[in-house]
Amino acid sequence: MASGQTLINLENVTKIFYTDEVETHALSGIHLDIKKGEYVAIAGPSGCGKSTLLSIIGLLDSPTDGSYVLNSRAVQGLDFSDRARIRNQEIGFIFQSFNLIGDLTVYENVELPLTYRSMSSPERKKRVQEALEKVGMAHRMRHYPSQLSGGQQQRVAVARALRGSPSKPGFPQRRSRHGTPAIVAPGRRHHLHGDARCPLCQARRAQHPSLRRQSG
Ligand SMILES: Nc1ncnc2c1ncn2[C@@H]1O[C@H](COP(=O)(O)OP(=O)(O)OP(=O)(O)O)[C@@H](O)[C@H]1O
Ligand SMILES: [Mg+2]
Repeated sequence: MASGQTLINLENVTKIFYTDEVETHALSGIHLDIKKGEYVAIAGPSGCGKSTLLSIIGLLDSPTDGSYVLNSRAVQGLDFSDRARIRNQEIGFIFQSFNLIGDLTVYENVELPLTYRSMSSPERKKRVQEALEKVGMAHRMRHYPSQLSGGQQQRVAVARALRGSPSKPGFPQRRSRHGTPAIVAPGRRHHLHGDARCPLCQARRAQHPSLRRQSG
């Protein structure tokens, strides 16, 4: 993958959740530019909008306003099937709760997203084996998720995100230094919301004044 080119560009993105009683401004005026090959982490207090932002970047949700250009393509106008295809082929997700399917083996869990592509069975097998070897889980490919430790389940989730060589290797979530979930993407760090207790948050906000958000 060539570096230097912009992979993800968000301009003035906002997200407002509407319920019967309340409007929640989860994201306000987010500007974000991530180049190909960059590793980026997003951290902030609980409720500050990390998951909302990742849902938008991962095409699971749409912004209320603003523009999103992914790999040189404006994506806000795409229909459901185009968004699903881009998610399947270009984006890898590692969910906070892993989301492995209990009735499928390790091998089948990693293979599943590949079955939605027109890919031969030998090619799928090769990719699944490579991905499992990368995370040191090839020896457990016939196990079911319930037969694995938490860390092993997480490694299978990493393999599932790696399996298709997406242009964005994924968005694992982990605990931040304050115990709130932090979101780590493939290490430049962006902090959405400065935490007064965290010198790193404050320093990063000073370095990236274009990153703005309001707490929900
Ligand atoms: N579907 C929804 N409807 C209404 N409000 C929502 C919805 N989803 C999220 N919110 C609100 O938007 C804000 C941002 O939520 P989000 O899940 O993005 O936070 P987060 O930074 O990921 O938090 P955490 O670290 O706890 O996972 C919160 O105030 C939350 O209550
Ligand atoms: Mg979250």
